[in-house]
Amino acid sequence: MCGIVGYIGKEKALPRVLSGLKFLEYRGYDSAGVAYVKNGNVEIVKEVGKIVNLENKINYSEETFMGIGHTRWATHGVPSIINSHPHRVGKFTVVHNGIIENYLKIKEMLINEGVNFISETDTEVIPALLNYNYNKEKDILKTIEVTLKELEGSYAIGIICDDDLDNLYAARCGSPLIIAKDKTGNFIASDVPAILSYTNKYILLEEGEIAKISSSNVEVYNNKLDKVEKEEMIFEGSQDSAMLNGYEHYMLKEIHEEGKVFSETVNYYVDGNSFKNTMPEFKDYKNIHIVACGSAYYVGCIGKSLIEEFANIPVTVEVASEYRYKKNFYDKDTLVIIISQSGETADSLAALRKAKEDGIDTLAIVNVVGSSISREADYTMYVKAGPEIAVATTKAFLAQATLLSLLAVKLSNKLELLNEFVGVEKYIKEILDKDYKKYANVIYTHNDTFFIGRLVDYALCLEGSLKLKETSYINSVAFQAGELKHGTISLVTDGTPVIGICTDESIESKTISNIKEVKARNAFVIYITNNDIEADFYDLKIVLPKLHKLIMPIVTVIPLQLIAYEVAKLRCCDIDKPRNLAKSVTVE
Ligand code: F6R
Repeated sequence: MCGIVGYIGKEKALPRVLSGLKFLEYRGYDSAGVAYVKNGNVEIVKEVGKIVNLENKINYSEETFMGIGHTRWATHGVPSIINSHPHRVGKFTVVHNGIIENYLKIKEMLINEGVNFISETDTEVIPALLNYNYNKEKDILKTIEVTLKELEGSYAIGIICDDDLDNLYAARCGSPLIIAKDKTGNFIASDVPAILSYTNKYILLEEGEIAKISSSNVEVYNNKLDKVEKEEMIFEGSQDSAMLNGYEHYMLKEIHEEGKVFSETVNYYVDGNSFKNTMPEFKDYKNIHIVACGSAYYVGCIGKSLIEEFANIPVTVEVASEYRYKKNFYDKDTLVIIISQSGETADSLAALRKAKEDGIDTLAIVNVVGSSISREADYTMYVKAGPEIAVATTKAFLAQATLLSLLAVKLSNKLELLNEFVGVEKYIKEILDKDYKKYANVIYTHNDTFFIGRLVDYALCLEGSLKLKETSYINSVAFQAGELKHGTISLVTDGTPVIGICTDESIESKTISNIKEVKARNAFVIYITNNDIEADFYDLKIVLPKLHKLIMPIVTVIPLQLIAYEVAKLRCCDIDKPRNLAKSVTVE
């Protein structure tokens, strides 16, 4: 959600800023812009739509050695050139990721002081306030420090001030920002892929920190303007892991990495029949709250099922945007688990902070190393999915399901169950190697689909339905199989695609009865099962290997992801960057 890239150094800035922005496209955006220094002046170019539209307006050979760029995902005001970043007021030019919650109050104050605003954005108050404070403070760092204290909300910002074109300034509160150095100069960026073509070493700005960056030097200050030493981090993934590598889309590439992701996640925590010390030792919790958003919430539903069944601990799963505002019944015997691929989701972060403030133990299950959620939780367990570029999560979901399954074993103290995780990669490969086009051919012309299943299969229905909706724009609803007939079955007509999932023998006959109910209304049924029976209640079937209950939900998601992918492809959708979506949702 919004991407920032900046460069200052000996090389031309625009090619570096633009190439970095392209690596941040996965975050989701609807307009883009750059500001750069030419002959001592700051020039701004902005355009609506894809980065290529902006590129068409830019002269790459421009002799400019400092620039900041931005991809905007609209929150305050429509996608338009005026609302796009960079925003400039007086001597300050700014790109911003996040939301300034008190912008109306600041805007009103500045309008009374004679400042003129041209956009509908919250961001424009940042350069306006910087400019206003600079007139009093006269010192750029002091001005930034004073200004940040007046801003409420979340931000990562890149700043150019006309009075110091030898330095780029940056600050962070609530939204991620890294600083990286290569042999030609320095970068700022919202995320690591933006700088990987040049370097894999970076430092992470912490909450409240301000950076002053020249082509050869980086100084970082805390919110009292004391200098702070920063630890250099190294990104371990290869450039390949952030590239397509021959696949048509990142979504497909990432699904095909799932065998490896499963094994790497297991191997990171397990050694033979015991856990490594990467698996934390937990006290005996009496209950667990799992808190997350979107797919991470659905994987939490899988976690609930497995932890309750194998560890006998009651689990409630909550949507983070609700949890942060509701009354929560927890105490010292509760563990709050926050699941987040990005580790930056604003609502999940707020839920974590709320639980911590209330003195509750927190565990983060996160993919992105060094992200806010990973750093703030009491315990952090990384899933080993590697960088996920496609907006729709796939391999991170599978890695989270794997880790929750391992956690269920850990909390159950039944270490012999770890045997079930051996040899699974080969089954994942078999599932990946099947052709899912024939299922997609049935679905892609319809406007409505249903996913039905019971218990853990219902959690998979929720995820399968979301994957289909977000990538192919087909309306889809997931139902507990027994619940459909209480109203919604009225939407099932001739040919309506219904995906019925049953991977649990103990409820098989019940789920099949519900599938028969839709079949009797002429639905087109695709049956996903691990029990290969011939019957007439389905039109097409996908047979999965019969694996242990701890493993079944992990592998069952794969056909659902691939069906969504194939349907989106048939409908010519923008698979890796679905409309209106952002990879990292840093606003509430
Ligand atoms: C769906 C999807 C989203 C995310 C959700 C939470 O494919 O990716 O629903 O799961 O926005 O994001 P994280 O996991 O980064 O907190």
